[in-house]
Amino acid sequence: MHHPKIAVVEGDGIGKEVIPAALQVLDALSLDVEKVPVEIGYGRWERTGRAITEEDFDIFRSCDCIFFGAITTPPDPEYRSVLIQIRRGFDLYANIRPIKDVTNGSNIDFTIVRENTEGMYSGIEHVFPDAVYSTRVITRRGCERIAAYACSLAHKKRLTIVHKANILKSCWLFRDVCIDIADQNGIQWEDMLVDAAAHRLVLDPERFEVIVTTNLFGDILSDMSAALIGGLGVCASANIGTDYALFEPVHGSAPDIASRGLANPIAAIMSLAMMLRWYGAIREADAVEAAVSEVVSRGITTPDIGGRCSTTEVADAIVRVVEENLAT
Ligand code: NAI
Ligand code: MG
Repeated sequence: MHHPKIAVVEGDGIGKEVIPAALQVLDALSLDVEKVPVEIGYGRWERTGRAITEEDFDIFRSCDCIFFGAITTPPDPEYRSVLIQIRRGFDLYANIRPIKDVTNGSNIDFTIVRENTEGMYSGIEHVFPDAVYSTRVITRRGCERIAAYACSLAHKKRLTIVHKANILKSCWLFRDVCIDIADQNGIQWEDMLVDAAAHRLVLDPERFEVIVTTNLFGDILSDMSAALIGGLGVCASANIGTDYALFEPVHGSAPDIASRGLANPIAAIMSLAMMLRWYGAIREADAVEAAVSEVVSRGITTPDIGGRCSTTEVADAIVRVVEENLAT
């Protein structure tokens, strides 16, 4: 992508620490990118009663993608999640979470590809006084596009299709479409029931490569998997659509540690690497990931993964390694 335009949302809490840290790393790459700051979230809600406005959406539409920190949920029962509005608005159908052990304590290295627009989170619910029906929507088109995306990540790797087709008819469709698309792409696949997959993920996470699954299953399995590799401070994610995407650390605004220099910037920096890869800056994405590994292996880390360094000390160290590696 030539001259990408990136909307930057720091958001609230540690978003205001980890996003600037990641932008320091972006700046060290000397790429031709334009950053457009957008102030949405809890702060905006306190001032105006709205966390996001139509004008913010216009700014997002004028950009190629969004780099997002975290937003605190306002104490308002009428509040509609900003992230869900953005996911719906831009039809960001694929939620991607790489689960890679940057602490090098294991060989865990797999990616969860979660369908992000339908399934149990279709929003179609019928509420009666004594019963509530939540509708699980699985469409052929939804299955085809998430399966195709998963296959694009699975070249030379094994695809695990996770479902509950022994109970749910909607999972028959999901499983069958995923198998068809994998076969069409010449991808080696296996399928697994979601309960068995949860069990195997805990016992033997190193056996997995690419997992494709439906919305609710993916939501649960990806948080569980984060616990396998050092926690929220290192987990990156992407929300991908046909021609738009949002990249964000998995964690929230962490008010318990905000403004104290304790936030691990690695989740945000690995999300930056995912964004670079998405728009074709492959060499730079590789350089950022290699620098993160190197700095972690030298023990330059924040307390959540066992170190004594601050957010900026970790970010500065990563910037230095990136600069050295790109210079040679
Ligand atoms: P959280 O992810 O903010 O924090 C959970 C725990 O992990 C806390 O103890 C925190 O200190 C720790 N932690 C998180 N990120 C860390 C990092 N980078 N380095 C070191 N430690 C880290 O989740 P929580 O506490 O449930 O939510 C706090 C606020 O964030 C809420 O208002 C919630 O709605 C919002 N949130 C926003 C998200 C988003 O914008 N995508 C995602 C999750 C929560
Ligand atoms: Mg986040």
